[in-house]
Amino acid sequence: MCGIIGYVGDREVVPVLIHGLHRLEYRGYDSAGIAVLDKNNSLVIEKVVGKIKDLTEHLWRRSINGNIGIGHTRWATHGPPTAENAHPHRSKDNSIAVVHNGIVENYAELKQKLVEKGYTFLSQTDTEVIAHLIEELFEENLLKTTLKVAKLLKGAYAVGVISTKEPDKIVALRKGSPFIIGIGKSENFIASDIPAVLEYTNRFITLNDDEIAIITKERVEIYNLDGERVDRSPFTVNWDISIAEKEGYKHFMLKEIHQQPKSLTDTISGFLSNLDNPVFKEIDRFSRIYIIACGTSYHAGLVGKFWIERFTGIPVILDYASEFRYRHSPIDENTLIVAISQSGETADTRFAAIDSKKRGGKVLSIVNVVGSSLSRESDFVMYTYCGPEIGVAATKTYTAQLITLFLFSLYAGLKKGILNQVTLDQFKTELTRLPKAVEEALKSEEKVKQIAYIYQHAHNFLFLGRGLNFPTALEGALKLKEISYIHAEGYPAGEMKHGPIALIDEIMPVVCVAPEDELFEKMLSNIQEVRARKGKVITITDGQNTELLNLSDEVVFVPKVDPILSPIVNVIPLQLLAYHIATLLGKDVDQPRNLAKTVTVE
Ligand code: G6P
Repeated sequence: MCGIIGYVGDREVVPVLIHGLHRLEYRGYDSAGIAVLDKNNSLVIEKVVGKIKDLTEHLWRRSINGNIGIGHTRWATHGPPTAENAHPHRSKDNSIAVVHNGIVENYAELKQKLVEKGYTFLSQTDTEVIAHLIEELFEENLLKTTLKVAKLLKGAYAVGVISTKEPDKIVALRKGSPFIIGIGKSENFIASDIPAVLEYTNRFITLNDDEIAIITKERVEIYNLDGERVDRSPFTVNWDISIAEKEGYKHFMLKEIHQQPKSLTDTISGFLSNLDNPVFKEIDRFSRIYIIACGTSYHAGLVGKFWIERFTGIPVILDYASEFRYRHSPIDENTLIVAISQSGETADTRFAAIDSKKRGGKVLSIVNVVGSSLSRESDFVMYTYCGPEIGVAATKTYTAQLITLFLFSLYAGLKKGILNQVTLDQFKTELTRLPKAVEEALKSEEKVKQIAYIYQHAHNFLFLGRGLNFPTALEGALKLKEISYIHAEGYPAGEMKHGPIALIDEIMPVVCVAPEDELFEKMLSNIQEVRARKGKVITITDGQNTELLNLSDEVVFVPKVDPILSPIVNVIPLQLLAYHIATLLGKDVDQPRNLAKTVTVE
């Protein structure tokens, strides 16, 4: 959802900006641009429609030299992706350049006032008002002016500013959208996330909401909106730069699918070394749990609901965060809100969690990005230990969220006395086998590739599952939609006869998730129903049931695990299926059209 980078130091700034934008491209990729203060202290802005490679090619023909600049990769909200709407935006007098991630909700009103004062708008964006406001309200210095401007802006934003008026400074302003400051030696950076500048430094400061940073090559000063200095020490990350590389894989998504045995191992041991999480001390008081999330994280929540209800006896209501926020559900001090988010920055999830807290509930977040906004806004946090996920379609973080929810429900159940230690230990033993089972499931890739080849041109897919694997069907359909643009629906297999069965004909591929669990016989009957309508049956199973094999056009075998953990194994071939269909169709797997990895607008 838009990526921001900024640099001040002794290096030539353009390569640093381009490099950072490449790393941030997963956040938005419909247009991009940079602003540089050149050696003559003139503001040079270059922007293009398209990806960072298009911007890079565009810049080859220009020679821009400077040591301070800002850059932006865009995911359009206000105004279509055009060069005019791409960031940075400039002020009328060409002294100020601004990049922005988020939405200025009151921009129309601000724009109106500026138009009345004679400002002409070159773009349809909400961002341009910020550049003009800084020009209009300029008083004394950039800090003082930005403080005034910040008080006028409503909405969520991370804003980076450079100006010819103070050519040694970047101003960073944050409310609601992520922002980090990278600390180097005689050089400093701003960025939407850490991997963008990991090449240059491993020391960072997080800018909090309602704070402004003034950054020169030697200093970083942070202020609150009252203009008071805030002290904040940098933290160090020990990430290896290879985490931001494809390491021989054709796409980040494929690398991330294959990383799952490791991310599961790391997440299990990360969870087990944090059993003193205070949420367990308070678990007895919760009489109701809401799980809120978006996209893939929501699907993890669907499985989590099943586990939590079963092991803790606490009723769980699941909702899309964007719906929950406006639903006025009953919340009190006995309500636990479990907010699941890979990024920890999804606006819908964050704001729903913040609102719930204000109404007396307690928030447990399950996030992947350490130090992300949601993690800091929650009462309790559990991390998934996946490292950065760059592919827009979530894969490794989904299975890590599942394992975290499973462990949470086990330990909460133990604390509540619903589960005993012996049963918990049995499940823990199962868990130690799980990464290996996922490794085995990944071996289905050759078979999945063949299936992808056969069905790549289908216009529609149906995914069916029951019980714990209904969410698996939803997730399989979502993956396919996201990266191949093929229409796909996930459905509970038992519900198919109430509607989707009308869609089935001899060209409709129906992916059936059919582990040999307590619902297997029922699933078999549903597959019969598909077959009877001549649908093409692609089965994911962990057994050798002859009837099932006879009913299937294609079968993908996955290893047998405890049925309660089967969603973690069954989703692997579905991730691979989406990936291979999308690559056969020549789609941009890591950066599918219209999507962004981190959606910081409502
Ligand atoms: C976007 C991404 C999805 C992701 C969803 C929720 O739509 O494209 O892959 O599942 O956001 O993101 P979160 O970071 O909150 O898990």
